Amino acid sequence: MKHLVVVAHPVKDSFTMGLTRAYAAELEHLGHSQRTCDLYRMGFDPILGAHELLPVGPDHPASADVAQAQNDIRAADALTVIYPLWWLSMPAMMKGFIDRVFARGFAYESQNGVVHGLLSGRKAVLITISGAPLPLLVKSGNWNAVQVLQDTHIFRSAGFDLLEHLHFDEVVPHLARTTAEQHMERVRSCARQHFASAATMSSDSAKVVRHVGAS
Ligand SMILES: Cc1cc2nc3c(=O)[nH]c(=O)nc-3n(C[C@H](O)[C@H](O)[C@H](O)COP(=O)(O)O)c2cc1C
Repeated sequence: MKHLVVVAHPVKDSFTMGLTRAYAAELEHLGHSQRTCDLYRMGFDPILGAHELLPVGPDHPASADVAQAQNDIRAADALTVIYPLWWLSMPAMMKGFIDRVFARGFAYESQNGVVHGLLSGRKAVLITISGAPLPLLVKSGNWNAVQVLQDTHIFRSAGFDLLEHLHFDEVVPHLARTTAEQHMERVRSCARQHFASAATMSSDSAKVVRHVGAS
């Protein structure tokens, strides 16, 4: 299978980036091809410009970076999106990626306010990280808001078959090493759980490893 992994975190050696590397390495270990879009390191521009609200056509082609990302999503069997929860939402960098890349005509069409996803047939995995304990987020209703707005309104609405929303809670500075290692193993087991059997059926077992933007 071909995977696209998209991650947003400003610090290269952060917990979030460590999770991303562990997950991507496990996909490769399973014999899949993967491309990681490291939005900060590749200098992705998250600002949707006025011209991008015009319908794409011969007179208004999609911006090159958006067209590249859309081609990568089209080519992938599975998309994995990884980010920390900031104000219970995604970092502005990831939000800008969604705003610009999940454009009308590519990710969805809408008629009379009813959204119709265009990316069906593709699988998605969502991986998020929070400082707060998950039970607290659930009790306050915040977790439901996250699921409604992110899992459903973005990824399922676009047509993805969301295999899992894996969440790591209580991720604080100076996380105990054993806890961090358990989390790395958890993210590797997520890759195995969903994609181990697909590896043997893959028609594209060539190992193509690209970590966009990584120095
Ligand atoms: C701007 C900002 C906003 C944050 N908002 C939340 C929040 O709303 N809820 C929460 O549980 N944690 C919040 N956090 C904590 C982060 O989710 C947590 O520190 C991060 O996921 C840990 O992963 P990292 O070490 O890779 O940064 C916030 C952190 C930042 C920097």
